[in-house]
Amino acid sequence: MQPRTVTLIKGDGIGPEISQAVEEIFAAVQVPIHWETAEAGLACVEKYGNGLPAETLEQIRQNKVALKGPTTTPIGGGHKSVNVTIRKSLDLFANVRPAKTLPGVKTRFDNVDLILVRENIEDTYGGIEHWQTPDVAQCLKIVTRPGSLAVIRYAFEMARSMGRRRITCVHKANIHKMSDGLFLDCFREVADEYPELQADDILIDNACMQLVIKPEQFDVMVLPNLYGDIVSDLCAGLVGGLGVAPGGNIGVDRAVFEAVHGSAPDIAGKGLANPTALLLSANLMLYYLGFAQQARRIETALYATLSAGIKTRDLGGTATTQEYTRAIIDALPPAAEVTEHPVAPAKGPFAHREQEPEYEAWTLRGADVFVRSDKMPSPPAQVGKLSLSLISNRGTKVFPGPTPDIFMVNWFRLRYKAETPITNEDIQQLLTEIARQYDWMHVEKLHEINGQAMFSKAQGE
Ligand code: NAI
Repeated sequence: MQPRTVTLIKGDGIGPEISQAVEEIFAAVQVPIHWETAEAGLACVEKYGNGLPAETLEQIRQNKVALKGPTTTPIGGGHKSVNVTIRKSLDLFANVRPAKTLPGVKTRFDNVDLILVRENIEDTYGGIEHWQTPDVAQCLKIVTRPGSLAVIRYAFEMARSMGRRRITCVHKANIHKMSDGLFLDCFREVADEYPELQADDILIDNACMQLVIKPEQFDVMVLPNLYGDIVSDLCAGLVGGLGVAPGGNIGVDRAVFEAVHGSAPDIAGKGLANPTALLLSANLMLYYLGFAQQARRIETALYATLSAGIKTRDLGGTATTQEYTRAIIDALPPAAEVTEHPVAPAKGPFAHREQEPEYEAWTLRGADVFVRSDKMPSPPAQVGKLSLSLISNRGTKVFPGPTPDIFMVNWFRLRYKAETPITNEDIQQLLTEIARQYDWMHVEKLHEINGQAMFSKAQGE
């Protein structure tokens, strides 16, 4: 097979130590890969004021495949997450995170073998956040049909190519009826095309409980971004923790593989880091590139090392990163059989990204106007065709009807609706009128399709 050039981002914190372990093991196996290193992380912030230099992104674009060590993201401020920027800039829409029981790693379960596929671009990770008043912060959760179809189709293709039997959509569509409801609808639509796979769905809360009681019941799971982020750490815990949890970010024709864990600043530079998660991520990359033979050799050596009780401290052992790496190299078998099914994600392109056709029935029937007010507002009851139909505070109806006994923040939603279709001019007139009394900060148009509301209704509305 032709050698491949792959970008290697060592990252910061424990990144350089665990990347070195992977480089040494790959060298011992003579994997036909030529590493091209690229910078990202804290050192770049100091040098360029940005955690991800444009050259690094360009290099990944050219090589199409990268292995990435962890990079630190400051909480609450500072530079943007390097990971999120890479995923979005390269359109890596599916995040694949296998959780498989490892021999010799003591956990509560000994039979976990599931693969979590997380949507990687949308949801609350769009980073669309605003302060609405000095007391109220808002984060928009965006779920789109093309984005959902892309990741769901990828999950089905991956499940099929790996000989998996069941695929479960995890959601909260009973509460987030439109956003999660759309994700679930897309799942059901795609499921019809894969009759050989058992397709079902489960609420995220129930899924968490089931996972910690009977994880072996799950096979492939597909989730929106935020749930996927949280549940994948839960799954990592089922098989030994963050030190053994690998991942891959997959796009149509490119992929970046990285461990689930972060830069672990608490143990950086001490020789305590477990390189398993990055090594397993690198192995996913080998399967992706078609180097299954080499990946199997590494897996066999890794399993033998763990079974022999040679483990890093996070897994209850005493080996340093270097001792552990050496032991894996010493355990490498001369050759390894390749299992029948690839044990790693399938490659794209599976993207399914048609835009919705324009629909004629999409009609404007009102607006939600969000205003700042220190007490219960009394806006105009009628503005042109629009009548005030609802006021809510933090989603709880406070008008019409008796004012509920709740604490009200200084941020109210005023809902205006019309009996007949309206235009933008009607909404502009509404805003002008409201602005005479209140400071408004956000407007949402209310649409209907054939009489069906394309917005959530308040209780009793
Ligand atoms: P973390 O994953 O770095 O560490 C959590 C705990 O797990 C720590 O006690 C750490 O010592 C331990 N741990 C993690 N990986 C380990 C390994 N390979 N071997 C042994 N022990 C390990 O999470 P934390 O502390 O919340 O985040 C640290 C930084 O990493 C933050 O700036 C965060 O934003 C960033 N981060 C980066 C990621 C990436 O680059 N892919 C992913 C997650 C977090």
